[in-house]
Amino acid sequence: MHDTKPSLTALLVAAARAIPGPLPAVDAQLGAQVGGKFGAVLDLIASNKAGALLARAAGLALVDHIHLRTAALDGAVAEAVAAGCRQVVVLGAGYDRRAWRLDALRECMVWEVDHPATQAEKRRQLGDAPPVAARLVWAAVDFAVDDLDAQLQANGHDPERPTLWLWEGVTMYLPQAAQRATLGVVQARSAPQSWLALSYLTPQLLPGGKLAKAVAAQVFAGIGEPLVGAMSRTQMRALLGAAGFDLASDTANPEWARRFGGNAGVAFLFRCERVAVALRSQGSP
Ligand SMILES: C[S@@+](CC[C@H](N)C(=O)[O-])C[C@H]1O[C@@H](n2cnc3c(N)ncnc32)[C@H](O)[C@@H]1O
Repeated sequence: MHDTKPSLTALLVAAARAIPGPLPAVDAQLGAQVGGKFGAVLDLIASNKAGALLARAAGLALVDHIHLRTAALDGAVAEAVAAGCRQVVVLGAGYDRRAWRLDALRECMVWEVDHPATQAEKRRQLGDAPPVAARLVWAAVDFAVDDLDAQLQANGHDPERPTLWLWEGVTMYLPQAAQRATLGVVQARSAPQSWLALSYLTPQLLPGGKLAKAVAAQVFAGIGEPLVGAMSRTQMRALLGAAGFDLASDTANPEWARRFGGNAGVAFLFRCERVAVALRSQGSP
């Protein structure tokens, strides 16, 4: 991750959410908010059926995959809030708009945690758009160097109350040390009945074998966000277990398509990215 440039992968993921796909566009006004040529092109694609279809094909099903991943994690938000979580920490929030669009968060306090460069750009885009969430707190944190614990402590997070931790599309960009350090803070600040919902990348990467893997590695390294944090399902389970969480589900896009609609055949290309939902279940809050 560049020190001063906002994350490009965050922008691409947000763009995928702004294009109608298997599910309606999630963030319809993104083009206007991003502005400039990219925003205009995005608006054009999003407003045009043929454009949207072309983008879905050209993006090798990434649009479909991101729609379904978003739906899978929105489902985890609904479950965790229904189970009593009123604190939600979005780790590596990027341009995620859940705090602005999910009615389920109406009674929740939400912490937007991200790299300072990406967060500054998000704040510029959103201006003073009011969130749906009861309260929104910004915390600029580089997981590789900054003290997440101190930031949350200083910004009103209460470790005695259950928290939902959302970590979507981030672990694959973090070295193991940063993943562990972040989970250490999650563990220390998670009251019983806290939830953790994350996506992670399994090492087999794209179908297409070594060549596809080498190309993807070059592309992501080239944009300054190398894929250094892939983990096997066993490693993921061990990591969450060490942080005191019990795995409740571990799914990939064919399962999400069955649950939320959409074309599992197309999104099958990215089944290497999975969503794990885990619960800190010892005792009661
Ligand atoms: C692919 S984006 C996902 C964004 C968002 N979760 C979403 O799904 O829209 C990856 C995010 O990880 C964040 N990130 C990557 N490395 C980071 C680091 N060392 N510290 C803080 N955030 C980081 C980027 O700023 C970016 O917002």
